[in-house]
Amino acid sequence: MKHLLSTDGLDPATALAILDTADGLKKTLLGREVRKLPTLRGRTVITMFYENSTRTRVSFEIAGKWMSADVVNVSSGGSSVGKGESLRDTGLTLAAAGADCVIVRHPASGAAHRLAGWLSEVGTSVINAGDGTHEHPTQALLDAATLRDRLGGIDGRRVAIVGDVLHSRVARSNVHLLTALGAEVVLVAPPTLLPAGVENWPVQVSHELDAELPTLDAVMMLRVQAERMHGGFFPSAKEYSITYGLSEARARLLPEHAVVLHPGPMLRGMEIAPAVADSPRAAITEQVANGVHVRMAVLYHLLAGEEDGS
Ligand code: CP
Repeated sequence: MKHLLSTDGLDPATALAILDTADGLKKTLLGREVRKLPTLRGRTVITMFYENSTRTRVSFEIAGKWMSADVVNVSSGGSSVGKGESLRDTGLTLAAAGADCVIVRHPASGAAHRLAGWLSEVGTSVINAGDGTHEHPTQALLDAATLRDRLGGIDGRRVAIVGDVLHSRVARSNVHLLTALGAEVVLVAPPTLLPAGVENWPVQVSHELDAELPTLDAVMMLRVQAERMHGGFFPSAKEYSITYGLSEARARLLPEHAVVLHPGPMLRGMEIAPAVADSPRAAITEQVANGVHVRMAVLYHLLAGEEDGS
């Protein structure tokens, strides 16, 4: 594997290998005073974020450092992107400076694929840390890791992805990965927040959250992405909260074992009640912790794993 750009088409065996590596790394590091492995010593990883991030950027940086890589962070605000430098020139500049891997977040869908096309020629790997409304593959992998931890597996489990599916790269990556790993996925959203062509996705679609909750092994609440809704959105925040927010009363409709996920950042009180987000059935901080191990595993497979030429 040379790049990680999407979960669409990601071979289930490769996805499971990444999840197993992440699990092994987690167990190896558990309880250690010094969380440092020599695996990527001498390798250089550069994060290049054109959109805001807390979880993804920090966990990639920690992942690289825990594997002894040299990690450099570049943001569009503090770099020559602000002077008008193109994505291609910025990427080639980072590769020329010594990057073995560039981790990119960009507002344009497809940006990571374009960058990978240019950087393949100079042997630098690219990881998509979220491109527009398209994909966020490491988020889906860390969600899968969390579901495996909590449920013991993904095959045959029923997972709802709830809310702003239209603008969600997290939803797209999760649909591809969870269905490839054998889960049954139901998208629960108002018609205005579902993408055109959703009837061709390998999922069920529902507008009735209350009816779905008792049938679920996991519910993944999405962030409402106001920054991608230039004309406001319908339903209003209040209507959304009443109809699709995971209130305490709604959470009680879930089976005892069911897990609550949210990729973050959360809009507490609108998408999810604070008491639900902080309850034992919520795995939101576990998702963040798994994010570090999954990103270590991805870096391992790209930079230290067997080269298969793909
Ligand atoms: N889930 C996620 O991508 O969060 P950040 O935007 O904080 O990275």
